[in-house]
Amino acid sequence: MAFPQNFMDELVARNDIVDVVNSFVPLISKGGSYWGCCPFHSEKTPSFHVLPDKQIYYCFGCKKGGGVVNFIMDIENLPFPDAVRFLAKRAGMEVPEEEGDREAGRRRQRLLDLNRDAARFYYQLLQQPEGRAVQEYLDRRQIKKSTAVKFGMGASLDAWDVLLNAMTKKGYTKAELLEAGLVVQNKNGGLYDKFRNRLMLPVVDTRGDVVAFGSRVLDKSEPKYMNSSETPVYSKRRVLYGLNLAKKTKRPNIILCEGNLDIVTLHQAGFDNAVASMGTALTVEQTRLLSRFTKELVLCYDNDNAGKIATERALQILNGSEFSVKVLQLPRRRTEDGELVKQDADDFIKFQGPDAFERLLSGSENGVEFRMAQVAGKYDFTSDEARVAYCGEISDLLASLPGAVEREVYTVRAAETAKITPEAMRLEVQRAFKRRTSREKRAELRKDLNPAAQLQPKERSLRYENLRSARAEEGILRLLYRDPELFPGEPPLREEQFSSPLLGRAYARMWQAKAEGRTMSPATLFSELEPEAASHLSAILQQPESTQNAAQAMADYIRIIQTEADKRAGGADVDPLLAATEKYKDKKGTGGKQHG
Ligand code: GTP
Ligand code: MN
Repeated sequence: MAFPQNFMDELVARNDIVDVVNSFVPLISKGGSYWGCCPFHSEKTPSFHVLPDKQIYYCFGCKKGGGVVNFIMDIENLPFPDAVRFLAKRAGMEVPEEEGDREAGRRRQRLLDLNRDAARFYYQLLQQPEGRAVQEYLDRRQIKKSTAVKFGMGASLDAWDVLLNAMTKKGYTKAELLEAGLVVQNKNGGLYDKFRNRLMLPVVDTRGDVVAFGSRVLDKSEPKYMNSSETPVYSKRRVLYGLNLAKKTKRPNIILCEGNLDIVTLHQAGFDNAVASMGTALTVEQTRLLSRFTKELVLCYDNDNAGKIATERALQILNGSEFSVKVLQLPRRRTEDGELVKQDADDFIKFQGPDAFERLLSGSENGVEFRMAQVAGKYDFTSDEARVAYCGEISDLLASLPGAVEREVYTVRAAETAKITPEAMRLEVQRAFKRRTSREKRAELRKDLNPAAQLQPKERSLRYENLRSARAEEGILRLLYRDPELFPGEPPLREEQFSSPLLGRAYARMWQAKAEGRTMSPATLFSELEPEAASHLSAILQQPESTQNAAQAMADYIRIIQTEADKRAGGADVDPLLAATEKYKDKKGTGGKQHG
């Protein structure tokens, strides 16, 4: 890890988890620990547990957990080093920047500088005669000069090495150009420009850095869009095209569209609150980013099948979130030949104008209405059979709505659609509601009856190979992290004897800290782990463990782990990694030679 251990220890000590969490979610004290409503999923009864003695949190609902650094990473949507800086600032501590850290920071900055220089270069080409093809394309699409400037648009030329040469001249290395994804390597190792003969659309994050490029062809050839690949400064899950501009809007909401050029057209037409995810469905990371700037989202995806699926997926992600969500449905357009065609926001503005879009925006329906209309669209209400089928399907949807008032309002609406009495519809919804609750109860029960499944980590990659050993390993960790002083002397087990690499590592780090005379807080350990691993360890550590017969319990755990480790080492199919351990060699009384 990049930050020194003693700094991390102090950081964790000076940012009490209860204080930190409490500044985001109100906590209630209950028997030595604290409970609140989880900020990471929607709930009405608190299942978010904060334990001051271990300085960890764990949510029984969404199973997220960790220490104070994990909490800040999640809630502020920050990478690890930035979360550390955030907490350091909060506690008035100075951050020691390590050489490795500074080096990584320098590399990031070089990439950002390179992207900015490339964006400038493309921009200048657009102003010059060589950029005429792109300028003509912009004219055809009625994109004004001032709009192009606002979005920093540029031109890449119909050539193989224009950018490569210009950036090399500026002092960027081939490795840097490759890492930024601006050039590509052919089979013989030769480099050439990735973007050629395209309209260049720099992707700017909310800090104002150019993190990537989108680009569009000028004709009908494929691929239509070519975007930067993922780089150390660009993750498409975490960026929204246009948000650098939309974050300054005075409008009360943010509009989510599919296409980059939809965003451009909308901004030009006065809708400076439009953003697009670049060829992905809406992600949780993006919703967290959006939550910093708005409380209301308008989904404006294409009016075709793919767009409807994207809308439904986004609604699922946003279901129960803090956002109020609306769906703006673009009508199809009748062409001169009388054909009905889909249109996106860009087309709509072009054919119907900004005022018509403004009207759609103010009249856009909420997510429930959208879903109800989707269901209703499937049925022909002139047939009794269809009306009955509609009632069955719509009652399932209505039963899934979290609020009682919401359920009632839309139940009445559905009754009107199906032309039945509200009473009959209510009964139907109540039955669906009961079915739903009993289904959930059964699922819970199945889980309770299957302790093995319950013990397994949620994350597949962390699955236990040996449950018996893993349970003992968990017990040891609970004891150790509860009170390391219970166990003086030498470590009774070696890390390799643990069947779970994650638990083994947590164990080894604890003894290492003891050996260095430090106190090992779980929060310090968590900050070096993946979020799933941190969540799983929190789940383990927050379970109660009696310290009454701690010494006996410890001895039992040790015995189980040793037995299981011996079984593995002595088994017929010897794990090559284990075979290499000293223990195995000792048993056989040989060195490694015989195996060779
Ligand atoms: P035009 O109006 O035809 O210029 O396109 P658009 O902006 O309306 O975009 P469209 O609805 O066709 O696609 C939506 C988004 O998906 C685009 O903005 C791109 O980010 C992405 N996308 C579309 N086609 C491609 C492709 O061929 N490759 C990649 N990587 N992404 C694409
Ligand atoms: Mn379009």
